[in-house]
Amino acid sequence: MTTTENRRNAITPEEYERLLPGMPDIRTSSDAAKVLTADEYFKVVHKPDTRPALWKWADVRGALDKLADEPLREAERRFCTTINSDTGELNGASPFIFIGWQLIHPGEVVPPHRHNSVAIYHILQGSGFTSVQSEGKTWAKYHWEKGDTLACPAWAYHAHYVEGDEDTLMYVVQDMPMLAASRTLFWEEPLGQENIRHEVAGKSASWSITRTDVESD
Ligand SMILES: [Fe+2]
Repeated sequence: MTTTENRRNAITPEEYERLLPGMPDIRTSSDAAKVLTADEYFKVVHKPDTRPALWKWADVRGALDKLADEPLREAERRFCTTINSDTGELNGASPFIFIGWQLIHPGEVVPPHRHNSVAIYHILQGSGFTSVQSEGKTWAKYHWEKGDTLACPAWAYHAHYVEGDEDTLMYVVQDMPMLAASRTLFWEEPLGQENIRHEVAGKSASWSITRTDVESD
């Protein structure tokens, strides 16, 4: 079993106690550990600048139109993202910022879920509401229409409901790349403690643990 697979598996206190006596003792610097001088460090800590990026609406709309014809499958959202390729493995619009464009058809629901990235939704089109957990068992329905902006706090449950006859289009900003870079991006979808996943170490094939049409390890 690899380290990553090990990290995915929760263990009970009893299992931990059984593991402890057999754990190897590490008393020397480990493989991943390096010591750098100041000169060496400042050479590698530099990051190349990113170029400005412009994404034309026609390209975003084209990507959304392709998704628009598909049923929602078991993924709870239909979205595309715009990234600046200069952000490399961070895959952000800028190094620590995610931009998503979410399309929801009338009558569709994005079921309750949560993540430790904050989510800021700006409504470009459509109307409806988002139920958001504020504290503990306290929830509220935040009704939105074109031009409105809603900020959903990190690790707060939320769900989107579209009303009326028009597609809803949301412009979504999140701090996902920053959390992914620090290996601390967590997701719970669908709602249910057993569905909490570490999105980085977990190698999840999908946002949703319920999806069956994509391969998951
Ligand atoms: Fe969300």
